[in-house]
Amino acid sequence: MNLVLRCYSVLDQMASSALISDSEPWKDLKGHVEEVNKTHLRDLMNDVNRCQAMMVEFDGMVLDYSRQCATLETMGKLIKLAEAAGLKDKINRMFAGEHINSTEDRSVLHVALRAPKDAAIQSDGKNVVPDVWEVLNKIQKFSETIRSGSWVGATGKPLKDVVAVGIGGSFLGPLFVHTALQTDPEAVEAARGRRLHFLANVDPIDVARSIAGLNPETTLVVVVSKTFTTAETMLNARTLREWISSSLGPDAVAKHMVAVSTNLTLVEKFGIDPKNAFAFWDWVGGRYSVCSAVGVLPLSLQYGFSLVEKFLKGASSIDQHFHSTPLEKNIPVLLGLLSVWNVSFLGYPARAILPYSQALEKLAPHIQQVSMESNGKGVSIDGVPLPFEAGEIDFGEPGTNGQHSFYQLIHQGRIIPCDFIGIVKSQQPVYLKGELVSNHDELMSNFFAQPDALAYGKTPEQLQKENVAPHLIPHKTFSGNRPSLSLLLPSLNAYNIGQLLAIYEHRIAVEGFVWGINSFDQWGVELGKSLATQVRKQLHASRTEGKPVDGFNFSTKTLMTKYLQASSDIPAELPTLLPKI
Ligand code: F6P
Repeated sequence: MNLVLRCYSVLDQMASSALISDSEPWKDLKGHVEEVNKTHLRDLMNDVNRCQAMMVEFDGMVLDYSRQCATLETMGKLIKLAEAAGLKDKINRMFAGEHINSTEDRSVLHVALRAPKDAAIQSDGKNVVPDVWEVLNKIQKFSETIRSGSWVGATGKPLKDVVAVGIGGSFLGPLFVHTALQTDPEAVEAARGRRLHFLANVDPIDVARSIAGLNPETTLVVVVSKTFTTAETMLNARTLREWISSSLGPDAVAKHMVAVSTNLTLVEKFGIDPKNAFAFWDWVGGRYSVCSAVGVLPLSLQYGFSLVEKFLKGASSIDQHFHSTPLEKNIPVLLGLLSVWNVSFLGYPARAILPYSQALEKLAPHIQQVSMESNGKGVSIDGVPLPFEAGEIDFGEPGTNGQHSFYQLIHQGRIIPCDFIGIVKSQQPVYLKGELVSNHDELMSNFFAQPDALAYGKTPEQLQKENVAPHLIPHKTFSGNRPSLSLLLPSLNAYNIGQLLAIYEHRIAVEGFVWGINSFDQWGVELGKSLATQVRKQLHASRTEGKPVDGFNFSTKTLMTKYLQASSDIPAELPTLLPKI
């Protein structure tokens, strides 16, 4: 490295090891909170100029963040915070393939997974886009062979059912997209006669449920694991391998099992023909991998590659917007900054994800992983303990179901900023003659009403005017001033689903970039895994050799001993037993 570059990198490191909370814009925002706390959304919503400035449109979608507890001055200060955090530079470094995942020394290039064929995105001096398209082309060919029935199983029958075995990022993203597509008319047509199932939990009940009613003769198992070492996935994969070979013979595995992984050596060792393995790369984080073969293979098997390509194009459209739009009009940037504002300044640690679409029922579970595994960190990217809390507690349910569940707390209990997501045109419109509105309008009435109920609330004076009994007034009062934002999508087809996914992915990266943490590693999941290894060994020793539980604290030892005693009828030498469902 030459001297100039070395000086640059040392300076760069010094700059980045400073905590964002020490910066002037952070302190300025801290001071600004008091001013904002004096406002109420009831009044802020009367300022049409403010509301107009807080609406952004891009590629058919509308973001309205006027119901955030923020003024235009707040937004200006947040942009200054973004500049102090070097947000633009960090975004550029991500797209340039720099090793921004420093603790794993990797690029972060999920954007390359949906880049157009002629794009050039570098990782370690190599344009990765041709590699991406080589795998996509292989998926296209393979999925067409399966879907057309020209690939048959061991007994000559076409494979109509697919079970995708994987967990975490190798499961939640594909499940979200599959669930969202399931009722899209184009997807329904493309999937006719086919079924896609998922097996994630190591709980044998999940095995039983995922293969219930399936015939191994007509089933293809896709083992999805970035590392091909994840304990749950590998045991589930061995279980389904046994399910296939016990019924069709060991040679059938080659016809009925394929894999998606970065570790093709382990795939081969497992007994899957490397020709039937679909690669991806270290620069794809597990939770950011839905646009790699992790999602594209199972989804193409179910819906055909051309439909999945539309999903990739939707995500790519947001990538370009994120990369090139000025911060003030950049949807993921605005969303990320508002999250930082809510968490770090207003002190609201949670976020509710409330899609008014049943098709988006798996959005919140997916975003839980993307967000909480990415930003659930206690130290800065340079390892300095954070003097503030990073990360966000995500949860959610589709409206209107959530309204009859946890909205009580959101309206009158704790303050939880909400993401309302609405769709203009339903995937499955229903009208009943004589009803006031269509079924979708009924749903959307709630989408429009809830944010205002949260923002405006209801005052004791209003209740008095309505002659509410005095003793009930405190119970029926709504304080209001509860922040939310609304995102309106034109429809929910593959393209829009891709857009939605990329918006959340980038928003979460923005939060991490501003907090100055590494949003792309996940060391926090390791400790529990290694302790489970110790427990696994003990359970084996106790069951097979009668060894007493040893080396654990009083609590764990007592619980494990009781567990072993209460299940002592399980034979020491376990015969193979598969679900009987
Ligand atoms: O639980 C941690 C994790 O490493 C996730 O980050 C990842 O998505 C999941 O496990 C599955 O990992 P793999 O794809 O390697 O099986």
